[in-house]
Amino acid sequence: MSQATITRRYRFCAAHRLHTDQLSAEENRTTFGKCNNPNGHGHNYVVFVSVRGDIDPITHQVLEVSQLDAAVEQIVVRRFDHQDLNRDPEFAAQTTTGENLVLFLWELLVDQLPSGRLVKVGLIETRDNYFEYSGSAESNRREEGVSHG
Ligand code: NI
Repeated sequence: MSQATITRRYRFCAAHRLHTDQLSAEENRTTFGKCNNPNGHGHNYVVFVSVRGDIDPITHQVLEVSQLDAAVEQIVVRRFDHQDLNRDPEFAAQTTTGENLVLFLWELLVDQLPSGRLVKVGLIETRDNYFEYSGSAESNRREEGVSHG
């Protein structure tokens, strides 16, 4: 059976501040620049979710788009839209970099999709910043031994 990948785009707006307690105030300023501003700032995040699968012989689709939309809306958009990412429990001890955020989006979504279906999560943070992660669909970063802080 032929396989294909569909990528859907989603959006949320959120505030954050790049800061880590592992660095001094001066080191934080040097490392993160204006993103370390104590008052925070916001982004119009764009999330790309890529799902691979067999092309269904009846629907000729790899998934029901409405089901993916509902899952992403419930798990990602409702959680982060118009929120301060630094106040999210996941980021209590983690910096809200695009890298950490895209890994966490993967972790949230991989558990909601049938095994092996999620192939990539992309995240646009600014005009010039794009992050992506395509870890093993059968595992998440906890299993890969990446520390949560
Ligand atoms: Ni930022």
